[in-house]
Amino acid sequence: MACRICSGRLREFADFGRQPISDAFVEPGDPREEFFFRLAVGVCESCTMVQLLEEVPRERMFHEGYPYVSSGSSVMREHFHTLAKRLLTTELSGDDPFVVELGCNDGTMLEVVADAGVRHLGVEPSGGVADLAAAKGVRVTKDFFEAETAARVRAEDGPADVIYAANTLCHIPYMDSILSGVDTLLKVDGVFVFEDPYLADIVARSSFDQIYDEHFYFFCAGSVSRMAARHGFELVDVERLPVHGGEVRYTLARTGARTPAPAVAAMLAEEDEAGITRLSALDRFAATVEGNRDRLTALLKGLRAQGATIYGYGATAKSATVLNYCGIGPDLLTFVSDTTPAKQGRLTPGSHIPVLGPEAFRDPYPDYALLLAWNHAEEIMAKEAGFRESGGRWILYVPDVHVV
Ligand code: SAM
Ligand code: TMP
Ligand code: ZN
Repeated sequence: MACRICSGRLREFADFGRQPISDAFVEPGDPREEFFFRLAVGVCESCTMVQLLEEVPRERMFHEGYPYVSSGSSVMREHFHTLAKRLLTTELSGDDPFVVELGCNDGTMLEVVADAGVRHLGVEPSGGVADLAAAKGVRVTKDFFEAETAARVRAEDGPADVIYAANTLCHIPYMDSILSGVDTLLKVDGVFVFEDPYLADIVARSSFDQIYDEHFYFFCAGSVSRMAARHGFELVDVERLPVHGGEVRYTLARTGARTPAPAVAAMLAEEDEAGITRLSALDRFAATVEGNRDRLTALLKGLRAQGATIYGYGATAKSATVLNYCGIGPDLLTFVSDTTPAKQGRLTPGSHIPVLGPEAFRDPYPDYALLLAWNHAEEIMAKEAGFRESGGRWILYVPDVHVV
């Protein structure tokens, strides 16, 4: 397979084997066979974009029953509200501004914009979460964003001051269509702002579970600036974000339209020095991940052999990679606790561990809990302080396998 950005040659560096759709939680007794694909990652020799080697058809992932809701984390709610308020006082402070969000999900960001009475549109193909956004007063269209969608929105609403996407752009393999759509829809001096998991953080923390069907690309400043240049855009700002295990918020503008902030050159230089897209660094990452997989399965099996009870915490999309790659099933984890209504009462994809609401976690507490939602560690450990107070211990596997 060739690079989805530039058709260059891809060099594979990690293979996680057969994996299910990460958000396809199984109804117990459902006779339908699960869909599996080969989850492997490579780096492009030409443009350095790190990407999956096999593409899952988008309708299999994003549909009426897509279960993920942005508002499930209070930290993320705060994160998006802060961003919305910032946009309202900067890029959206002119005359009759217009903002479009790709993958607006349940409207957690746009509800602030809607409340401020500012023109906006969420583009969200997953019908169930789009309905949640609409119920909050957010204007939303149930579509995949692509070149045709952009042309339609432009014709109906005019050009946008800001196009924003969080944890969505890296989900979309068809980048030519997206960036030509952004070109059609964005004002001459508008900005395209998107935030996604940062390759440098994934490599530094060995957070291999950021790799799953929905995460097609693993961006860094270098690969994003080359991708942008292909469509007449330039990377004009970057900002590191602590959320979701380490992300970068990238700002693109038309080439020459804005002066790039010094942070861009600094990040490009830092990436070059660390060599994060060099095959040797990525091979090292893959070797570390294999070691962590072996240590995690040995720890869980050892604890179970001693009669300890272990629950999982957070039926994240990421956890599909961990559970299936490490061969962790209901023999090791009794169940996984999760607050998302659409996941409860179902089984984790591929590994078939029951998902129950957080009340089951406390009744009674297990001896150990595998923190599958490690990116929300602070929020969850504070909320579940009673677990450690009663002698329980958290098991983490990022950046390495440890018990706290
Ligand atoms: N932006 C939210 C956040 O950060 O919490 C939701 C992120 S969720 C992981 C990814 C979202 O992107 C899903 O709601 C999915 O339906 C949406 N999506 C996938 N492909 C898309 C496309 N081509 N255009 C717009 N949204 C898309
Ligand atoms: P995410 O890592 O993709 O944001 O998914 C987080 C998952 O963890 C989501 O299914 C909701 C769940 N969760 C809990 O069960 N309890 C919590 O306190 C938090 C923050 C998330
Ligand atoms: Zn390439």
